[in-house]
Amino acid sequence: MDISHLLTSHAINMQASLVRELLHYSQQPDILSLAGGLPDEKLMPAYPALAQLTDSRQYGASEGEKGLREVIVRLVADRGLHTTLDNILVTNGSQQGLDIISRLTLDESSTILTEQPTYLAACQVFKLQGANIQGVPSDSEGMSVLALRNAIENTNPKAVYLIPNFQNPTGHCYSLKRRQDIAALLDEKGILLIEDDPYRDLCYEKVDLTPITTLLKRAPWLYMGSFSKVLWPGLRTGYVVSCAEFSPHLVKIKQAIDLHTNRLGQNMIAAFVASEMFPAHIVKLQQSYKEKRDAMSKALVAELGEMVEFNTPAGGMFFWLTLPDGVSSKHIMTDALEENVLVLPGIPFFPNRHSQDDAFLRLSFARLSLEEMQRAIHILSNVIRRRMT
Ligand SMILES: Cc1ncc(COP(=O)(O)O)c(C=O)c1O
Repeated sequence: MDISHLLTSHAINMQASLVRELLHYSQQPDILSLAGGLPDEKLMPAYPALAQLTDSRQYGASEGEKGLREVIVRLVADRGLHTTLDNILVTNGSQQGLDIISRLTLDESSTILTEQPTYLAACQVFKLQGANIQGVPSDSEGMSVLALRNAIENTNPKAVYLIPNFQNPTGHCYSLKRRQDIAALLDEKGILLIEDDPYRDLCYEKVDLTPITTLLKRAPWLYMGSFSKVLWPGLRTGYVVSCAEFSPHLVKIKQAIDLHTNRLGQNMIAAFVASEMFPAHIVKLQQSYKEKRDAMSKALVAELGEMVEFNTPAGGMFFWLTLPDGVSSKHIMTDALEENVLVLPGIPFFPNRHSQDDAFLRLSFARLSLEEMQRAIHILSNVIRRRMT
């Protein structure tokens, strides 16, 4: 049956996410997956006991559970972002935060500027609104300020979307100077900042994590956080903190989409984050993921040496690997899969594609055990070597 006449033009133009398509392989037991952004379930704590939670059986507030919003106010205050309950919206993961923000601010006439490369599922959401996405070159300290100025002047964008801490996919973390310069430029031009910060607690070195939002003096902003990377992604719980002008509009969209986020999950997260277990849990995550990051870095150097380029990320879950000249990431993906190793080509992370974007792989070190990771990198390095000859 042909249903294409029933679909909107934006739905027809949507491409399936390569990550989602690859995820079904990662669920097969014999596959060693370096592909997804999935946290290690062995590091996830048990749920709090049901009896100690607020009763969640009735419909709730569209803004989210009061107890969880109070917890979020305290969490973001520790980051220098001082706000009130009215400016917190609990969402079904930060992915829904992106959706709500996009529905509120973007349409066919809008351009949104992003890092190049950037989180591909954010681009999918922006595209669903029909927005034009313009990637802005970024280096290891973040988005280039000069390139951002040029892009703002050339495209008159609605917003700039940034992931300043342990970016997905590159792992980059912005320097304080870059954060300050970008804030000053957005203030000068009065451009909306959409700041996405799901990885900040997965921090393994002393680096600056100041939200750019807190450096703004007059530009509008929306800041997103998530509990997916530190607690239970299956509970789909994240949040948007907004400057006061946006808050009532965000709630109306949330109400129209799904009334509110699942109350039971919100109350579980509120109970855990408010308990003394939370800080200890974050320290445990940092120690375990740091060990895995170091093991991946060591394995890459031992197996591939000078053949590939990468920076060891100061936090997050990802290595961003530049392959040897002439080696295609798509070929590496197919060859590696034949040997039961799943890797993710970098191409879908580039909003504006060029042929040289086939030269990257994103490798996640979060989920495999140390021994599995060694094995996966060994197989991957043989695959890369074979393609070089
Ligand atoms: C940069 C970024 N933003 C948002 C998300 C979505 O996270 P959530 O599980 O909170 O929806 C992810 C998930 O990988 C991400 O990497």
